[in-house]
Amino acid sequence: MFNKIRPWKNQKNSSTLREKIEKVKKLPVPEHVAIIMDGNGRWAKKRALPRIAGHHEGMKVVRKTTRLASKLGIKTLTLYAFSTENWKRPKNEVEYIMKLPEEFLGTFLPELIEENVQVKMMGYKDQLPVHTLRAIERAIEDTKNNTGLVLNFALNYGSRAEILDAVKQVINDCKSGIMKENELDEKVFSSYLMTSNIADPDLLIRTSGEIRLSNFMLWQLAYTEFWFTEVLWPDFNEDHLLEAIKDFQNRQRRFGGVK
Ligand code: IPE
Ligand code: IPE
Ligand code: MG
Repeated sequence: MFNKIRPWKNQKNSSTLREKIEKVKKLPVPEHVAIIMDGNGRWAKKRALPRIAGHHEGMKVVRKTTRLASKLGIKTLTLYAFSTENWKRPKNEVEYIMKLPEEFLGTFLPELIEENVQVKMMGYKDQLPVHTLRAIERAIEDTKNNTGLVLNFALNYGSRAEILDAVKQVINDCKSGIMKENELDEKVFSSYLMTSNIADPDLLIRTSGEIRLSNFMLWQLAYTEFWFTEVLWPDFNEDHLLEAIKDFQNRQRRFGGVK
């Protein structure tokens, strides 16, 4: 449906892209990249389009970014798609966003399966519309045995609620004797979070020029490298991701120690 225009130009692009990928892969790439995909509304506004047009365009970028992450050998790509606070938005916008997983997976799932991508989701499933949840659970089920890139959608996700729920669960497990209080350490506590089987992000990207976390992975980002760009999410492309990774490769991570 898409990408029908200018096949020659695309071909030329893909060969230069391949070279760029190979160059970046000469140094270690971050294993877990997390992205706060922001700026869809402003992208639409700049074009005098409704906000939902920005979300639709942003969905195409999810596709491109997933493909590139897979080619780069990134192990996990976490994408912040909808926060627990985003329910405050106009009803029609929320309804539209909740239809996007079906649309995205409806066309992209066969490719994800083919590319050995494993789909995961973190967030509160209970409040999601049935049709949204069904599309996601199908993708999770159909890709559960895949061993390549983990594509982890943060959908109806909020970090404070996540941490608070973990605390409550820890209290319950102590009360019922499943766990002893003195056994609780950072590693054990991490296992109570929605990311229990996922390593902390190495690189966090936020688009659209906002320099904040907006309730995203507050515990997990403790030692993550941050990369911010003014680029709006629908304008985010392969070169931007490669630029972020190259920047990451020049950082010195010390984790509190000395180099
Ligand atoms: C990010 O784009 C997508 C979601 C939060 C769902 P926004 O919709 O926040 O775009 P801006 O920030 O209003 O431009
Ligand atoms: C964060 O963006 C959530 C997602 C990208 C899904 P927001 O646009 O909701 O964040 P704020 O409101 O500007 O902090
Ligand atoms: Mg925003």
